Amino acid sequence: MQNQSHLHGMTPELTHDEIAREHAVRAMRFHVYAQVSQGTRGYFTNVVAPEFEKSQGRALNDRQEVRRVMEERPYVQLHLSLQRSVQEVMWNTVVENIERQLPELNARAKGCERNLGSLTLNEAFEIPRYVSNVDIHCMPGGYGYDGGEPQSVAAGAIYDRGISMYQRGQEGNLGASVIGYLKKNFPNLKPARILDLGCTVGMSTLRYCDAYQDAEIYALDVAAPCLRYGHARAESLGKKVHFSQQNAERTNFTEGTFDLVVSTILAHETSTTAWQNILKECRRLLKPGGVMAHADLPQFADIDTYTQFMFGNETRYNNEPFWSTFRAMDLKAAMEAAGFAPDQCFLDLADMVDRDAKVFTNTKISADARTRNAKGPAGFGWGVQIGIK
Ligand SMILES: C[S@@+](CC[C@H](N)C(=O)[O-])C[C@H]1O[C@@H](n2cnc3c(N)ncnc32)[C@H](O)[C@@H]1O
Repeated sequence: MQNQSHLHGMTPELTHDEIAREHAVRAMRFHVYAQVSQGTRGYFTNVVAPEFEKSQGRALNDRQEVRRVMEERPYVQLHLSLQRSVQEVMWNTVVENIERQLPELNARAKGCERNLGSLTLNEAFEIPRYVSNVDIHCMPGGYGYDGGEPQSVAAGAIYDRGISMYQRGQEGNLGASVIGYLKKNFPNLKPARILDLGCTVGMSTLRYCDAYQDAEIYALDVAAPCLRYGHARAESLGKKVHFSQQNAERTNFTEGTFDLVVSTILAHETSTTAWQNILKECRRLLKPGGVMAHADLPQFADIDTYTQFMFGNETRYNNEPFWSTFRAMDLKAAMEAAGFAPDQCFLDLADMVDRDAKVFTNTKISADARTRNAKGPAGFGWGVQIGIK
């Protein structure tokens, strides 16, 4: 049976034609990311890299050199253009579908209220420039987009629909992967209060409601439209979460409030300074013995040069300014600078899990990568930053 986890009280009503267009875009996206990508990797391994070695008498050195030789090739140019185009087509499709019914969705958000959790917004709040200055991953208007409507859920609805184009039925799996890691490595952790930073619409957050049923769950983000949508979505699903509009660099929670502070794919959308501030704030927020866990895609050090080149395309062609800088950052040093004791903070790889919590990581590559002896292709796990106070 098809998983229905993308359905909830805020799911937009689509016409026949809109559904057909979504299906077409999803299929096109899948083709580019699965089929064309495989072709490009094969082209690199079997043609471009050997030709370089033959002519230069040495292997390609690093991701910059891989980019130089790859981007000269028309096949690669076509692939990268297709990737960018399919991203734009995807967002255009989603935005048109959402904008058509935005007033109805805004009204529906209010109707979802069941007073399980709460929503605290701050009218005077200023979204940090690293979020507001760019339409991250080409999402039109970015996370703060309101479609010109008061009390709007626009960006939240657009994000949710966009993510369902990537991973329908798999929403929140990043959170599930972190939970899998925590249950395995911190089996005695019984958090009374959990905070999810950069929650967007709470896809990952809601997984914590199920995994730690005795905990109070808090989630914050800088973007009001995402929080309104996320709150309504959670309430419609009967999940109790306290959402608030705050900057994770400095929150209004009292020191030592949380046993567990987490985030999923927040880090690469911040900045070097902001991430350092966030790590420091995490430590402040933790109770003694509390755990911090942040998941993102792996660091450059954990992946082969070709995958590094592909990752770098996110910065060059998908409006992810901090993506590559983050992957090269010394995160262990950053955690120590934030106050975590050197033997109480580390980097690791967490297994990726699917909607049934089934691991789909290639565990051999993952185990090798943990000892930094071998570099596997992307998809072998989430990079996690762990700190214990
Ligand atoms: C890629 S999304 C996170 C997705 C989400 N964690 C999930 O698993 O579905 C990044 C989010 O971080 C938020 N964000 C960026 N900087 C932030 C900050 N300093 N404080 C709080 N939220 C932030 C953005 O508004 C955006 O909603």
